[in-house]
Amino acid sequence: MNSFMILILFLVGLASSAVAPGTGECSAYTQQIDCLNSGYCKWNGSSCVLYTSNQDCYRIDEIGACRANGKYESLCMPLDLLNIEYKNVCGITTTIDYNFVRYPIVTTGYPHFSISGLTLAQLKVAKPQINFLFQVLTVNIQIAPNKELQDILDLYKEYEVTFQNVTVHPYYLEKCLFQTLQNLRDDTQPLSSTDKQNTLTKFWSIVQVYQKKMAFYSKHYQTNYYFLNFAQTTFSRLYITIEGQDHTTSLTWVKYQRNGYIQAVSYTPKLFGINDALTDVVYINVIAEDGISFINIENMEIIYTQTTGTLTNISRQLKFISDKTQIPHTFSSSLTSTPCDEIERTCKFTLPSPLIDSQFIFYIQK
Ligand SMILES: *[C@@H]1O[C@H](CO)[C@@H](O)[C@H](O)[C@H]1NC(C)=O
Ligand SMILES: *[C@@H]1O[C@H](CO)[C@@H](O)[C@H](O)[C@H]1NC(C)=O
Ligand SMILES: *[C@@H]1O[C@H](CO)[C@@H](O)[C@H](O)[C@H]1NC(C)=O
Repeated sequence: MNSFMILILFLVGLASSAVAPGTGECSAYTQQIDCLNSGYCKWNGSSCVLYTSNQDCYRIDEIGACRANGKYESLCMPLDLLNIEYKNVCGITTTIDYNFVRYPIVTTGYPHFSISGLTLAQLKVAKPQINFLFQVLTVNIQIAPNKELQDILDLYKEYEVTFQNVTVHPYYLEKCLFQTLQNLRDDTQPLSSTDKQNTLTKFWSIVQVYQKKMAFYSKHYQTNYYFLNFAQTTFSRLYITIEGQDHTTSLTWVKYQRNGYIQAVSYTPKLFGINDALTDVVYINVIAEDGISFINIENMEIIYTQTTGTLTNISRQLKFISDKTQIPHTFSSSLTSTPCDEIERTCKFTLPSPLIDSQFIFYIQK
């Protein structure tokens, strides 16, 4: 036997002794980095262990762990449809749950300074110059611990005026917003309710910067990021539709006293402690052309349409949210629909005419 053949036999021996991805014991990994690189184990501070709740199935990166003989064979399911847009490969069912879509984490850059080494504090002082805005955009939101995440949101707010510049695409604000929600949702450090509420308060202040920009950026606009979606249209179109998983939520209206915009942001109910939702949570902002709050819109209706499966013809409840900064959200009043139409798979809710509030937040209950 020559040494080449010995090498081949050695390599074959190695390959047969290695276990298939997702099937080995987590305790075999003694270093945190190897544990996390396995794609299905978590580090508990001192040891490498398995997740024990199916609420964590969405965090798994190694699909082998969810297939037959995998470590989560009986806890999680492999997803039927895998999309390169997101990292999810396992779930509680074989269908991706939009509430838990994980965008890939980019590890370039830092959460406490820009690519050229300016700290968050230095960038704060440098505002509102546009060349510094492009430094702000290199700060890594995805890997930021909560303290830095909140500091970054404060920094974005400082650049409010610069973001309004037409040369800055709204995507940068959208990216900040969906990365913030993903960061908050997937943070494995225990967060106090104050930290969560402070993060959300800052999140909503960036939404405000975004909406202010959109009122001048484009009349009609729509983008979807699974657990966070944006839409805007003019009063003259008489309706706006927001797409969610297996459903759409539309608003229709008949008359308006002057021109303006309906702005909608829809977002994941599950992050906000809402588990009985048929729809995403929808935040509506009604403004006149000049950006000022507006309520003189008549005969507004909210129409829920289910796009798959069946819908029974009972009446549904629409619940208004009183405080969108809280986890869980708190509620104020509710509306009852007419009996849902099981053929069209729609339910309809009638709002006061004219509107009472220029801003309202709601979801429709199962
Ligand atoms: C981590 O897991 C090991 C092994 O299961 C266990 O002995 C240890 O108590 C755990 N530590 C923490 C902080 O949960
Ligand atoms: C918008 O940005 C451009 C450079 O991208 C700059 O020349 C212009 O002055 C900015 N406008 C305002 C109003 O800041
Ligand atoms: C719901 O549908 C069933 C069967 O089609 C019908 O008998 C019933 O009257 C309907 N209920 C309402 C409230 O429309």
